[in-house]
Amino acid sequence: MATMDHNIVPSDLDSYWMPLTASRSFKKHPRFIVGANGMYYKDSQGNEVLDVSAGLWCVNAGHYREKINDAIAEQLKELDFAHSFNSGHPHAFRFASRLVEHFPDPLNHVFFTNSGSESVDTALKIALAYQQHKGEGTRQRLIGREKAYHGMGFGGISVGGLVKNRQNFGQLLPGTDHIRHTLDIERNAFSRGLPAHGAELAEDLLRLVDLHAAENIAAVIVEPVAGAGGVILPPEGYLQRLRDICTANGILLIFDEVITAFGRLGAASAAERFGVIPDIITTAKGITNATIPMGGVFVSDEIYNTFMSIDEPGVELSHGYTYSGHPVACAAGMATLDIYEEEQLFSRAQTLSDHWMESALSLQGEPNVIDVRTLPLIGAIELSPREGAPMQRGVEVGQKCYEKGAWVRNIGDAIVLSPPLIISEEEISQIFEIIRESIRETK
Ligand SMILES: Cc1ncc(COP(=O)(O)O)c(C=O)c1O
Repeated sequence: MATMDHNIVPSDLDSYWMPLTASRSFKKHPRFIVGANGMYYKDSQGNEVLDVSAGLWCVNAGHYREKINDAIAEQLKELDFAHSFNSGHPHAFRFASRLVEHFPDPLNHVFFTNSGSESVDTALKIALAYQQHKGEGTRQRLIGREKAYHGMGFGGISVGGLVKNRQNFGQLLPGTDHIRHTLDIERNAFSRGLPAHGAELAEDLLRLVDLHAAENIAAVIVEPVAGAGGVILPPEGYLQRLRDICTANGILLIFDEVITAFGRLGAASAAERFGVIPDIITTAKGITNATIPMGGVFVSDEIYNTFMSIDEPGVELSHGYTYSGHPVACAAGMATLDIYEEEQLFSRAQTLSDHWMESALSLQGEPNVIDVRTLPLIGAIELSPREGAPMQRGVEVGQKCYEKGAWVRNIGDAIVLSPPLIISEEEISQIFEIIRESIRETK
């Protein structure tokens, strides 16, 4: 390995409190990423590694896209910032019009945020206010799902289902509850695509309807494919069943598509991919190919029109952020959409489908591999935890992959995969061979 370049590497590692990081161990063996292009990252030691996570499920069109970079630079010269509170600039309106074209009817309106966490909080607030405006003010309960990740705001961790993100933060939002998760390795291990078993788990929502009464439930939020919980796929028929139960009980259905929107599953949205239309979709990440922070919450005509027809004059939704619809983010987003459209990246995962699934499932039978979950272009390779040291095997496989030239993430003992959509078949083969070798070399 090349030596560390001390002109690039900072000497003070304490001023910056890193997000969601084991800071003390990071600082003992820091790794600095200093460049990125296409499918590759470059680190401060001169290594080039394949980006197997599209940044953090967000760089869907690959790194260093000149079209986006140029659009950002041009926008900064024209209008660096204008707020959107009772004011407007054309870019936000234009970007919104283009975006909604890619989302299913009737989700024809988008509220801009700056992140996935903000999108989730925004969606929950819209759901509560919508129910009030409909004269259903008792509908205040928000339902999430075990193992869900909905970002780090108080709303998101309250409906989220990952204990580590919840356990140190007090009472969270009152009035939340959770349906069961759909991970069932015993019945569904090594499924090719969506697992066959578990649609009935959607009926767990009926348990909560029986417990709390439908008239007290405002909304249910789920990730169509759960990402940060370890890539958990919806069983065949599950999402439709959830949709039906929500409709029958007057409960809004929110899909958190912060990672699944913008091509991850072979369509602009998971809603389109699975043919199940929620009332609200939250997005972020791929909306600007991660160049400028941005998010968007897509809502149905019914929800939007309810707000637009309330009796009182003035602000219809007392919610918004200084940077909602930031002109530079909009410019980045429009250039990103150009690329997605020109290169047909929303359907690219379908083109790569067979190769992706076969490569992933070829790991069945390798040492300690207890499940492979795969749907183009997302996946997880679940390793059995080492006795007395859960996560350790996942960490070690991840380290070995990096040394061999592929930067993969481990979530516990699952190796999770979500490469940029520009990936080639050769690169897919290369990644899975690196993972195979790394698994074989790890006890
Ligand atoms: C499904 C989902 N929702 C929300 C978020 C939070 O997004 P952000 O980190 O941009 O706040 C994430 C982030 O990974 C996510 O996967």
